[in-house]
Amino acid sequence: MVEIRKNIRWIGLNDRTTDLFEGLWPLPQGTSYNSYLIDDKKLAIVDSMKSYFEDKFLEKIEKRTDPADINYLIVNHMEPDHSGALPALRRLAPQAEIICTEKAVEFLESFYRITENIHVVEDGETLDLGDRTLKFFETPFVHWPETMMTYEISDKILFSCDAFGGFGVPEGGIFDDQLDLEDYEDGIVRYFSNIVGTYSAPVQAALQKLADVDVEIIAPSHGIIWRKEPEKIIEIYDKLSSMEGEEGITLIYGSMYGNTEEMMEAVANGIKSAGCDNLRVLDASRVHESFLLSEAWRRKGVIIGTPTYDGQVFPPVDQFIQLAKRKKLKRRIAGVFGSFGWSGGAISRIKSIIDELDRKLIEPLKEFRGRPSKEDLKIGRELGESVANKVIAQG
Ligand code: FEO
Repeated sequence: MVEIRKNIRWIGLNDRTTDLFEGLWPLPQGTSYNSYLIDDKKLAIVDSMKSYFEDKFLEKIEKRTDPADINYLIVNHMEPDHSGALPALRRLAPQAEIICTEKAVEFLESFYRITENIHVVEDGETLDLGDRTLKFFETPFVHWPETMMTYEISDKILFSCDAFGGFGVPEGGIFDDQLDLEDYEDGIVRYFSNIVGTYSAPVQAALQKLADVDVEIIAPSHGIIWRKEPEKIIEIYDKLSSMEGEEGITLIYGSMYGNTEEMMEAVANGIKSAGCDNLRVLDASRVHESFLLSEAWRRKGVIIGTPTYDGQVFPPVDQFIQLAKRKKLKRRIAGVFGSFGWSGGAISRIKSIIDELDRKLIEPLKEFRGRPSKEDLKIGRELGESVANKVIAQG
């Protein structure tokens, strides 16, 4: 339990044992579920916890108060990583009113069969806790349709739930000024791209909506609490949701027998020789798609190398392409290359997806038969140079 401001405490938990977030995304550095207790004349809890951790969560609450004395359960978001302990809280604090958006009501019923003692708030509505007042902002689709954020007016704290979160357990402190932020940057980009990325437009809408709200602390439900430089995480989210990538190239490839890999080396040489040093090469067969997506989200340039397999894109590369499409990764400068045995097909399939996604595809699309020839490798280097030049020109 950590005090954020007088009588506002972090009562979250660090999860170092769950392997896959949402059953999909690896968690090598774990994740945290941040929950907050506001101890005023009225007692409020902001967001809860995965049900798996509810015993420890309730222990934390009981150290501070009898759960039966809780007045309000603020539900910013209904995904079970933040709502799973609600049924337990409801049993221990049946009188506590659930505060949520209208859309959350159907989730409360379908997930937990909770239908009573719910107060639906309007956008901008306030809740008086005594000395403190909370204000609620609807922020639909950050991350689900029912999401809202809760703003504590006196200390200017924004409880933002999924927004401004990141993967990784903060070690040795929970505040930005206690941590080396470089250690957490990858976790933020991966969390954003994997979880929130599809909803980049709603994130932009939320940022605009909250632009005039005076925020001194951002307290999300995953990762670091930002009290020293809240503007830093706002800037990171703004860049990620507007898909303004870094000046650099992510080169994602697959290779069965080394031919596409050989071409990849030529393309990578071309990128470097054009002066683009921010290059990350990833083998789609060996790197989980969670990290492929994250690295592609990070940089302006994405070059894809794939053999043709069954007349289509090589499956691990295809998986990445489909994920990038599903997550609506846009505004990328792209290049494509790959080997085929007897008939191509992979490159034209990738091209059609890239065209759909508002990405600028740089020619040549280099498809070659079998092992790349000297001429193929020359064209591969030129492809790397062309994409790099375009990326550098965009700055
Ligand atoms: Fe962290 Fe969408 O839940």
